[in-house]
Amino acid sequence: MRITTWLDSDLQDLAELHADPVTMRFIGHGRPETVDEARSRLLEYRSEQGQRGWTKWRVEDNDGGMIGRAGFGECDAGRELAYALRPGHWNRGLATEIAEALVRWHLEHLPTDPASSCLCAYVEVGNDASVRVLQKVGFTFVDRRSYKCVPCDFFQLSAPSGTRAVDGNFLVDPFDPNVVPIRIRDSARNPDRGGTPQDVADAGAGSPTP
Ligand SMILES: CC(C)(COP(=O)(O)OP(=O)(O)OC[C@H]1O[C@@H](n2cnc3c(N)ncnc32)[C@H](O)[C@@H]1OP(=O)(O)O)[C@@H](O)C(=O)NCCC(=O)NCCS
Repeated sequence: MRITTWLDSDLQDLAELHADPVTMRFIGHGRPETVDEARSRLLEYRSEQGQRGWTKWRVEDNDGGMIGRAGFGECDAGRELAYALRPGHWNRGLATEIAEALVRWHLEHLPTDPASSCLCAYVEVGNDASVRVLQKVGFTFVDRRSYKCVPCDFFQLSAPSGTRAVDGNFLVDPFDPNVVPIRIRDSARNPDRGGTPQDVADAGAGSPTP
């Protein structure tokens, strides 16, 4: 499994993911999106990657087949963890593995401003599988609040064992040998997926079984 930046040619994959009502049930306005909306997303992802070096990335298997997308949006105090996988890949532990990789990436690429170094997540009320993923990778429920006019449970990365505090926020120690190992590779090894030098995370897992 790999996490990579986007090519224009990924539009169809992204459009299919966002056109699926099952996948979209707890995302955005809870409805399938059009190809034009997916095109806007793709442009946004590519622009964010170019400007700040992180976005919601493409997740693919070792053969290049798209599994879903995962990465970060912006929130008040830092980054917001986000993921969406094609339903055929659910319940195999993949989102958990991806989320672990992203937590590690976040910790290894903390913003220089400590006030922006939080990692949070919003989950629409009822999306219990997503809550479970967050719990498994060390997030803690904070409160219930409205997010983009939708009732959501708000989570923040908290302090599993062997952690350190950064300006009041407890974070996983990225150098803890017990954390699932993740290789970080740069665009020099993946030049067609980024116009500027960027890191992309390689979750280091094998191909998902069909
Ligand atoms: C949420 C999502 C990413 C989870 O992906 P996944 O690969 O199936 O997640 P994992 O297999 O790593 O873990 C799922 C966990 O939730 C549990 N789970 C699954 N469905 C559940 C449900 N309806 N209620 C409670 N728990 C559930 C699984 O048993 C598993 O927990 P376990 O390991 O303790 O058994 C996937 O369902 C998805 O892409 N949904 C659509 C997009 C979305 O909602 N994204 C999140 C927006 S906040």
